[in-house]
Amino acid sequence: MEPLLGTLYLLGWLVLGGLGYDSSSDQPGQEVVSPWRSLNTYSYDKYHPMGEIYEWMSQVSEKHADLVTQHFLGMTYETRPMYYLKISQPSNNPKKIIWIDCGIHAREWIAPAFCQWFVKEIVQNYKDNSRISRFLRNLDFYVLPVLNIDGYIYTWTTDRLWRKSRSSHSNGTCFGVDLNRNFNASWCSIGASTNCQDLTFCGTEPVSEPEAKAVSSLIESKKKDILCFLTIHSYGQLILTPYGYTKNKSSNHEELIQVGQKAANALKAKHGTNYRVGSSADILYAVSGSSRDWARDIGIPFSYTFELRDNGTYGFILPESQIQPTCEETMEGVLSLLDEVHTKNWPVNSARRVSATTAVWCMNL
Ligand SMILES: *[C@@H]1O[C@H](CO)[C@@H](O)[C@H](O)[C@H]1NC(C)=O
Ligand SMILES: *[C@@H]1O[C@H](CO)[C@@H](O)[C@H](O)[C@H]1NC(C)=O
Ligand SMILES: *[C@@H]1O[C@H](CO)[C@@H](O)[C@H](O)[C@H]1NC(C)=O
Ligand SMILES: *[C@@H]1O[C@H](CO)[C@@H](O)[C@H](O)[C@H]1NC(C)=O
Ligand SMILES: [Zn+2]
Repeated sequence: MEPLLGTLYLLGWLVLGGLGYDSSSDQPGQEVVSPWRSLNTYSYDKYHPMGEIYEWMSQVSEKHADLVTQHFLGMTYETRPMYYLKISQPSNNPKKIIWIDCGIHAREWIAPAFCQWFVKEIVQNYKDNSRISRFLRNLDFYVLPVLNIDGYIYTWTTDRLWRKSRSSHSNGTCFGVDLNRNFNASWCSIGASTNCQDLTFCGTEPVSEPEAKAVSSLIESKKKDILCFLTIHSYGQLILTPYGYTKNKSSNHEELIQVGQKAANALKAKHGTNYRVGSSADILYAVSGSSRDWARDIGIPFSYTFELRDNGTYGFILPESQIQPTCEETMEGVLSLLDEVHTKNWPVNSARRVSATTAVWCMNL
């Protein structure tokens, strides 16, 4: 797809969304803009090309306008608009933010599928599910379904196993930065490459890439309110804590491991899938410039990478038949993690907003 299309999407969104056109309507006789009949028939157990995900984002925020709003985050290298969905119930409460991004690596298609699944689960269940409605009293969710949009489109059109962004380097002789090596966390010190031909090219300087810059700016501007930073990848069946750039431990490392282990147990209880929990440097590999490490370094207490299914049988090419079970179990893991984080900040038997643990982090930051 050409960069121009991104602009067309933006224009389309402004015209259709901005003027209140109800593209989610499925009344007989009315025109429907989307390639599917309505949001009710969107397939969450299929992989979707970017055009459909753009359309899904605008439909979900139109249909659930009281709960979900779509926000502009920035432009990609190829000038496509990046949006995140904010899931928030109107309230006078001061709330904390849970950030979830998917698809920073283009070929990890199960990740965007999970972000969409997560939004679906919240909007379908928030009225009846007491667990979700309890979260929404104190928490807003910010969900970025596809971080690396240019790369994701490239995996649909040209190279299914493309990982990086699509920025041009060395006079157009090589392409793409590993966006998860481009964040400002011990940038390019270890587990990253300065050679633009490599899969782990870290870029020309910290946060050189527009996609990393867009995410960094939003997170930085809200960091005091962000409780949890979750970044979704595949594959490997791992829940990874900071750090990747050092074997040193973050100040709340033990707590991160405990919460992560509970999440892995809840995840396994769904379909029996085994996950391992640990810091990236301990159980995966050394990596610098990751968004997870950067988020922890700027003071976000709970920062995790999820590496979803599988463990290598299909790898990045996870069959569509595994989307549903993968998303179901991951949802259990994430909900368990949110339970823990929520209870620490809003103890069940107390109106206190700041737990003892929070006070300890503040002293250690
Ligand atoms: C790009 O091309 C210019 C002009 O041909 C040349 O001077 C320069 O060295 C090239 N840069 C790189 C990084 O290859
Ligand atoms: C990276 O972080 C350091 C502090 O660790 C800061 O001094 C520097 O300005 C940051 N660079 C960018 C590009 O954000
Ligand atoms: C790890 O911790 C040691 C001891 O506190 C410190 O000297 C070192 O700079 C740390 N390394 C990194 C990469 O932060
Ligand atoms: C991957 O998971 C499958 C199914 O659980 C299991 O049979 C297989 O041994 C695992 N492979 C590795 C390398 O862990
Ligand atoms: Zn990845």
